Amino acid sequence: MNKKYFEFYNPVKIVAGYKSLANLPFELKLIKGLNPLILTDKGVKEAGLLDKVLKAFSGSTVKPCNIIDNIPSDSSVKIVNSIAKIYKSSGCDSIIAVGGGSVIDTAKGVNIVVSLNIKNLKEYEGAETIDKKLNPLIVIPTTSGTGSEATYVAVISDPDENVKLAFTSYFILPDLAIIDPEMTLTLPQKLTATTSMDALTHSIEAYTSLQKNPLSDSYSITSIRLINKYLIKTLKDGKNLENRYNLAIASLLAGISFSNSMVGIIHSIAHALGGVSHLPHGLANTIILPYGMEFNFEKCNKLYAELSLHFDIYDIKKSEKENAKELILKIFSLQEELKALAGIPIKLKDAGVRKEDFPKIAEKAVLDGSSIFNCKEFTEEDVINILQKAYE
Ligand SMILES: [Fe+2]
Repeated sequence: MNKKYFEFYNPVKIVAGYKSLANLPFELKLIKGLNPLILTDKGVKEAGLLDKVLKAFSGSTVKPCNIIDNIPSDSSVKIVNSIAKIYKSSGCDSIIAVGGGSVIDTAKGVNIVVSLNIKNLKEYEGAETIDKKLNPLIVIPTTSGTGSEATYVAVISDPDENVKLAFTSYFILPDLAIIDPEMTLTLPQKLTATTSMDALTHSIEAYTSLQKNPLSDSYSITSIRLINKYLIKTLKDGKNLENRYNLAIASLLAGISFSNSMVGIIHSIAHALGGVSHLPHGLANTIILPYGMEFNFEKCNKLYAELSLHFDIYDIKKSEKENAKELILKIFSLQEELKALAGIPIKLKDAGVRKEDFPKIAEKAVLDGSSIFNCKEFTEEDVINILQKAYE
């Protein structure tokens, strides 16, 4: 008898493609979001993307109740709690998140506070602490990386403790994700590179996670194939809608995949680097990815060999281990390409991480929620070894 068991859940309605943003008011009516609070950040506003969203409301009876356009890149529990007050005082009934990971996770946090009528998001930290449906939440991603539009996780900082708090529940999942490639057209090259590497890390870690399953595998593989084909093309021609569309879909697929299989050591370290050194999440993954794969090599080489096929580098004359090694080399060379094309640092030292923080980072990484899903167990010493290799 087959003793394998898995669960897979993705109820998010996806509306994707050119001009899909125009459907926003219609979709809001369907989920009874008639007075949505719009959350976004300065960069999105300055790029004219908020105007595009507001334009979609023209001629509709659905109108935003309020707009908050200054969500920082590393949002916090305090910010979530204060936005929840604005939501209530403005008579809102739903939330639209327009942005990247921080905006989306902030929106998920606000939705917990307002729907459960609590005062402090921290009360609901952890897994499966929510037991009822939340208010309507719509996500319009402006980056192609976090996949947060399709995940049941929200990661929000607690600066008082220097940690990132994770909230996980199926009830956190958005009701609707609108993937309009026009919304990622203006994403700067550096962010395009690092957020795509976040998506790639989601797919690779999901494919090698202890909780992997046939459905998450299929999402990971398609996502990897798209990133392999379109990341460099997009960095060279970011104004091309087809390139942007394919990266946005890759990010969505990677999000659905890891939401149903989890990630591993690379994300554990990236979360700790975010909490301690304030390194942006995508950049942390960009730097740590190949070193984490090297660490997992002994347990994951068969799976890395399989993935090499989807990077179009599989060589039938080579052994599994050789193909797996080629994949890791491919990721190292991809890092170099991103550095050359987008100018992103690919070493921790160049990214401003301090060596004296390594013990703190390692301590947090082993306690991170992703660590238990990694294909190989690891200690603080293992993390410090990885950090040292990635330092300079
Ligand atoms: Fe991530």
